[in-house]
Amino acid sequence: MLIFNKLEYGDYQTPLNFCEKVVNIIQKEVNPSIILEPTFGIGNFIKATNQKFDRVKKIYGIEINKEYFEKVQDITSKFIGYNENIFEFNHKNIINNIDKNDELLIIGNPPWITNSQLMMKELANLPKKNNFKKLKGFESITGASNFDICEYIILDLLNQYSDINASIAMLCKTSVVTNIIKEINKYKFKISNIKMYLFDAKKVFGVNCEACLFFAKIDNICEKTVDVYNIENPNDLIYKFGWKQNKFYSNFEMIDSNVDGKFPIEWRQGIKHDCSKIMELRLINNKYFNGLKEEVEVESNLVYPLLKSSDLKKNYIDKSDKFVIVTQNKVKQDTTYIAEDSPKLWNYLNKNKEKLDSRKSSIYNNAPAFSIFGIGDYSFYKYKVAISGFYKKPNFVVLSSNEKSIMLDDTCYFIGFEKEKDAIITMTLLNSQKVQDFLYSIAFLDKKRPYTKEVLMRIDLPKIIEDTNFCTFQSMLNQYNIEKTITEDDYREYKNIFIN
Ligand SMILES: C[S@@+](CC[C@H](N)C(=O)[O-])C[C@H]1O[C@@H](n2cnc3c(N)ncnc32)[C@H](O)[C@@H]1O
Repeated sequence: MLIFNKLEYGDYQTPLNFCEKVVNIIQKEVNPSIILEPTFGIGNFIKATNQKFDRVKKIYGIEINKEYFEKVQDITSKFIGYNENIFEFNHKNIINNIDKNDELLIIGNPPWITNSQLMMKELANLPKKNNFKKLKGFESITGASNFDICEYIILDLLNQYSDINASIAMLCKTSVVTNIIKEINKYKFKISNIKMYLFDAKKVFGVNCEACLFFAKIDNICEKTVDVYNIENPNDLIYKFGWKQNKFYSNFEMIDSNVDGKFPIEWRQGIKHDCSKIMELRLINNKYFNGLKEEVEVESNLVYPLLKSSDLKKNYIDKSDKFVIVTQNKVKQDTTYIAEDSPKLWNYLNKNKEKLDSRKSSIYNNAPAFSIFGIGDYSFYKYKVAISGFYKKPNFVVLSSNEKSIMLDDTCYFIGFEKEKDAIITMTLLNSQKVQDFLYSIAFLDKKRPYTKEVLMRIDLPKIIEDTNFCTFQSMLNQYNIEKTITEDDYREYKNIFIN
């Protein structure tokens, strides 16, 4: 008998009472004659739909686990089950039995796991690559290194049933719905009446993630906005998100189109080195120690102060006790110069060459020894404004150094300045309520990294400068207890840089 790994097969069965709650909600939207449960498990959605929808003629289901498949056979005589792998299933088996007058409801809860989680654990419940490529509209997923199996299954179903009078109701992570809507213009299918009902995944499945019931009608017109509710109050709209005038927003209510534009400087990500134990040092009693707690005696010219996401909580930082070895001034620079410039550092790096050479990411293949990424002229500004990509509340911080530039790790984003005053003004404006509200309207807080370069590049800094007079600016700056003076002339000068 085949043993099914719970994680690999996303084997978290939906409790019957929760299936009934879902069916009660969508009952207002659909009256199906045919049901499809694409990964039916122990069959609770089959039971719930069979009880509630009296017009139903047939209930189709697919499930890979034979034990479950056999259990479900006698729920109803309307049931036609397939003990098959959804990734290999031929949907013509079902489509050929649906006629024009039928209304199909696709309902269920596909496995929630990402391909990289599966690959890391050497598990194989994945769509075949060649099958992937045959499906239209999947470029975005195949192109991405990481995708959710659940997202793949939902997109596949929307594609397969795109010509059928059908609706879909699926339990999934909220990020799956966000991704689908964000990429909606790429797909061949069209959907309308798109809704997301949030629920507590910890309570229902004992898992920690933002989850929802995703509902949509497969249609000839494509709506690109989602109405968000809580499953406990399914009639009270909480907010809407999606596309508006060719722009994507995470919350329509907070939109301030006045702030939506293009940032005049390129936001950069911090340094990526994938070997913190060797490349990151701490200064304790004037001695450097690495992540293996070994004392490291190296020249300090290529050792720079470092800040990480968790350090970016204040608004002005001018020192750090963390350090990073910066082996290059720009990406792919030959590193052999270190042997002459910093012989002790060269020895240290060579001593740890094996660890550095075994870094997994393919970016290190064919790159000079001890390479780092996220490095360029822009890294060496003495004054920066930085933000963590990881925290839900966007907090902009001035980094100021009269000596060596403070570096950031790759969880952070930053812009550089020649003058400290310009960095202070920028930080103040970016922390204004207007910008914060705007960021909440475009960033997805359920993502691991809500603030990305794409999000930050949408802030229209010149517009904000234009709308903020010196008096308002001063009162904003006063909140920060930064003992630096910005005069009206400084502010005017700053304005002149960004507003022509
Ligand atoms: C999250 S459970 C949900 C089961 C059921 N839909 C429910 O809501 O209770 C996911 C189900 O998908 C099944 N499954 C996982 N991979 C599959 C595959 N490749 N083909 C078909 N079924 C699969 C698992 O065996 C499991 O029963």
